[in-house]
Amino acid sequence: MTNKANIIFANDSKITNDEQLKAFIENSEGGFITTLLDGAMNVIIKPVKEEKRTYEEVRNIAGNIARELSARKVDSGTIEADALENALSNLDKGEIISAFVEGWELGAYQFLTYKSNIEAFQTELEIAGEVDAFIQRGKVRAQAVSFSRDLMNEVPNVLNPETFPDVLVDAFKDTNAKVTVYRKEKLEEMEMNGVLSVCRASKYEPAFVEIAYLGDESKPHIALVGKGVTFDTGGISLKSGRDLSDMRMDMGGAAAVAGAMKLLVESKAKVNVTALIPIVENMPDQQSLLPSEVIRYKNGLTVQVGNTDAEGRLILADGLIRAGDLNADYIVDIATLTGAIGNALGPKIAGVFGDEALSIDLKIIGEENGDYIWPMPLIDAYDSTLASDYADMSNISTLSSAGSITAGLFLRRFVPKEAKWLHVDMAGVMASSQARGYYPKTATGFGARLLADFAINVSK
Ligand code: BES
Ligand code: ZN
Ligand code: ZN
Repeated sequence: MTNKANIIFANDSKITNDEQLKAFIENSEGGFITTLLDGAMNVIIKPVKEEKRTYEEVRNIAGNIARELSARKVDSGTIEADALENALSNLDKGEIISAFVEGWELGAYQFLTYKSNIEAFQTELEIAGEVDAFIQRGKVRAQAVSFSRDLMNEVPNVLNPETFPDVLVDAFKDTNAKVTVYRKEKLEEMEMNGVLSVCRASKYEPAFVEIAYLGDESKPHIALVGKGVTFDTGGISLKSGRDLSDMRMDMGGAAAVAGAMKLLVESKAKVNVTALIPIVENMPDQQSLLPSEVIRYKNGLTVQVGNTDAEGRLILADGLIRAGDLNADYIVDIATLTGAIGNALGPKIAGVFGDEALSIDLKIIGEENGDYIWPMPLIDAYDSTLASDYADMSNISTLSSAGSITAGLFLRRFVPKEAKWLHVDMAGVMASSQARGYYPKTATGFGARLLADFAINVSK
């Protein structure tokens, strides 16, 4: 038997006289089975009900099959473009192909850097038909998300404020994007005092990375600001808990921004985008930033630190000010900012704050591309809870609830007046607790597609 699989839909005429398969088609809920049919391995996908035909469903089906076949070390899986398009009619034909490829590549994704006895293996997908451009599009999207996942999965002794910038320089070296790295001395000159303060007790020096991609100078300038905390211990306001390992993913916003830039650059998008990435490690020691200290920002605002674990907003503030200095027309910041957003929205959907009309646009974009998001309110009445006795504001609110909203209100104070602004809190969605659909266990790679598609959308 060849080590190849045919991927077909259950309504294919070949299988309608097989009793067992008929029962499967009639009784099972979605999904697929692998079976031998005429001596060949077949993956039979149950027909997708018309109301369930979404691109996300396509990505999930493909992801599940890719993971299973790859685990079985099947060399290749073949599907006919026509069959795929017919089974999912009422979606756009080319987009179905792209979604299937994207889901396939992402479902087979593994992070194996530290597994000494597992060799990477991925079943190759072959799509029969004249659909190369759509296959390519799916691959580019999957590679961007995989890049974000790789960054998030990487461990903090390897990916830290000194090495992360180099990884970014390397990732964009043969592209049309220009990467600039500012390190400690330069940051002092630039008055990036949030970044400098938060990273003060780390053995690594902080960094601020800018990735500029001028795909079309006539388009509005979009700044994407991503929180890059390579590990968040909480600092002196030390976190407690059995296992803080996931806090290596506190650079998930930075990973999202970097992934989005990959997607835009590789697809030669006609956009004008600059990624702004503050990178720190939040550590306690005798040099630490202390509660009660006041940070003076370049724009004149002063912030008293109430809790060193609310560090994300302290470094994003520098990013927002920088976006203003660069005259951005649109600013989207993205961060693993608050545990509260996970309590409010759970693990499958992130929160978006800021410009209400743009928030709705972003929600619609996420519904299509799988980076789900829901508009959240910035309630003016809570703004005064950020008051400080000594400084213009505190980095924590006196409220014991609405933590994601007050974090958003903090950021709003740093948004340049001329820009339209969105804030995405992705703390709840950074990691998946199990392998399902096109998501593996651990890092999701959330945000790369969301930000890239947003940039393309506002540049139309
Ligand atoms: N990085 C955390 C937020 C987080 C929590 C991300 C859980 C992913 C999973 C952030 O820096 C933080 O510690 N936020 C505090 C803010 C508080 C001190 C005002 C929080 O959410 O508890
Ligand atoms: Zn924190
Ligand atoms: Zn954090």
